[in-house]
Amino acid sequence: MKARRDSAATPAPAPLGGPAVVVDGLTKRFGERTAFTDVTFGVDHGEVFGFLGPNGAGKTTIVRTLGTLLAPTAGSATVAGLPLNAANGVEIRRRIAVMPESPGLYQRLSVAENLSFFAGLYELDDRRGRIERALRAVNLLDRADDPCRSLSKGLRQRVGLARALLSDPQILFLDEPTSGLDPLAARDVHGLIDGLRHRGVTIFLTTHRLAEAEALCDRVGIMNTTLRTIGRPDELRERLFAQTLQVTTRAPLAEPDRVFAGLPGVEGWHPGTHDGDGAGYLLAVTGPDVAPAVARAVVTAGADLLVLSPSRHSLEDVYLQLIDEDVEARTR
Ligand SMILES: Nc1ncnc2c1ncn2[C@@H]1O[C@H](COP(=O)(O)OP(=O)(O)OP(=O)(O)O)[C@@H](O)[C@H]1O
Ligand SMILES: [Mg+2]
Repeated sequence: MKARRDSAATPAPAPLGGPAVVVDGLTKRFGERTAFTDVTFGVDHGEVFGFLGPNGAGKTTIVRTLGTLLAPTAGSATVAGLPLNAANGVEIRRRIAVMPESPGLYQRLSVAENLSFFAGLYELDDRRGRIERALRAVNLLDRADDPCRSLSKGLRQRVGLARALLSDPQILFLDEPTSGLDPLAARDVHGLIDGLRHRGVTIFLTTHRLAEAEALCDRVGIMNTTLRTIGRPDELRERLFAQTLQVTTRAPLAEPDRVFAGLPGVEGWHPGTHDGDGAGYLLAVTGPDVAPAVARAVVTAGADLLVLSPSRHSLEDVYLQLIDEDVEARTR
């Protein structure tokens, strides 16, 4: 287990100015193997930022690198306002916490004993108060005396989160915090992350749950050894997919071309799918504000408008599109 003997017994220091994390051309190689290369991005204070990517994409390695557990091969970064280097390791670790993929608990010790051990290791003050607050945050006060080996995977995950919360970090790195959790337990973790966000904690998480990233994250980065794209989930959708409007009328339009062609903001149309009765049309449009004009045109043409909705692409669509492109590029 990685000791953090070098932490100080004083409370976590106040945030320094500037973004929470800045990464510039960061690269990590293990011998011949490149875990990630030339990665550049920033995370603002108080942001919930998510990293997505397939197995082996380099997500855990970048978390471990920014968490000062691995030295980068090339490039630079600042974490919590401090340049990432060996000399700043202690100071950075006082301001952050990392929850690894597996929580790393002593199975024979109780939940409270584990937390007490780590609070001692981190040389934290007010250990009882911190342990109680952390257990309350993850809803585990009533299991404090249970040995960790008797806990389910999800409960152990929550103890891991409590461990990460002990030091009141400014930046919390969570490596797949909901991996293996049932939907209710995952929702509890989402609630916890939301609570931390409201307290101004910067969260950097990795996940394979795209709906989770979409619901929780202000911005996401999609990684596959290099950073493929980064932005707000809605930005990524817009960047990757043309905007479309789905129109369904009760009966087919006599002359759809006359209705749609020439409408400002409508770039083209073709017959589309529709549910149940009616006739469907898919319009390529410049933005969602085109909808009222389309509605008026359909009604003016004497048709009954049943549905008028923008087609939604999910973050999953964006992810699959980008990662599929990588697979195609590799097999070309
Ligand atoms: N200590 C190590 N020594 C050698 N190679 C490593 C080491 N750690 C990671 N790697 C390699 O670096 C690459 C990235 O691994 P990493 O664990 O960061 O991926 P990941 O995106 O977290 O994947 P997953 O979604 O499966 O957790 C992989 O090819 C992995 O085998
Ligand atoms: Mg990983």
